[in-house]
Amino acid sequence: ESEFRRALESFRSGEPVLVHDAADREGETDLIYHADAVTPDAVARMRNDAGGLVCVALSDDVADAFDLPFFTDEVDHPAAADHELGYDERSSFSFTVNHRDTYTGITDSDRSTTIRALGEAAADPSATDFAAEFRVPGHVHLLRAAPDLLAQREGHTELGLALADAADLPPAVVVCEMLDDETGEALTPADARSYADRYDFAYLEGRDVLERLG
Ligand code: 5RP
Ligand code: CA
Ligand code: ZN
Repeated sequence: ESEFRRALESFRSGEPVLVHDAADREGETDLIYHADAVTPDAVARMRNDAGGLVCVALSDDVADAFDLPFFTDEVDHPAAADHELGYDERSSFSFTVNHRDTYTGITDSDRSTTIRALGEAAADPSATDFAAEFRVPGHVHLLRAAPDLLAQREGHTELGLALADAADLPPAVVVCEMLDDETGEALTPADARSYADRYDFAYLEGRDVLERLG
């Protein structure tokens, strides 16, 4: 069974997949789950083992249905005027949110509530009154994907959502960068691969996803 097939199966069964984008892009490996499947334990794994920012990526269609813009398009502040990213045209950040059933929003249980609810909302946007269910700002970052996914952008936002689509799952995934506890830098691909092996998780290179879905 190919690593690619195994990754799709992982998404369907609630297991994470590790995806390294590219050495000439961020050079980061994100731990990615389908949003539907997230539990408090999964949030704990993201903050303890990955250590980056916990973000939920939504498709452009779903973001439109919920009226979720790019953060920089809505904020009139000089610091938001120019992205100047070294590795891409624009970041995919939208707003931050909490589900209204959360208390502070940051605990494993609260973030899991928010993330799962985003997964459910993405499965049936027309049945969701976003503002009635979520509040802004919150403790989960939303990311808004490029409309044509990998044809337009090759970030973890699009890589994760292209995998969800290939797995026939709704367009919502949660991503978190894997950082090295010793150096504070991005976990190297070799170390990310051995983490994946240790837990029997699938590991993909962005180019493997692009070859099949790009
Ligand atoms: C949010 C990020 C991450 O890099 C995440 O992977 C989404 O960004 P991108 O689509 O640019 O890879 O910046 O923590
Ligand atoms: Ca980033
Ligand atoms: Zn990324």
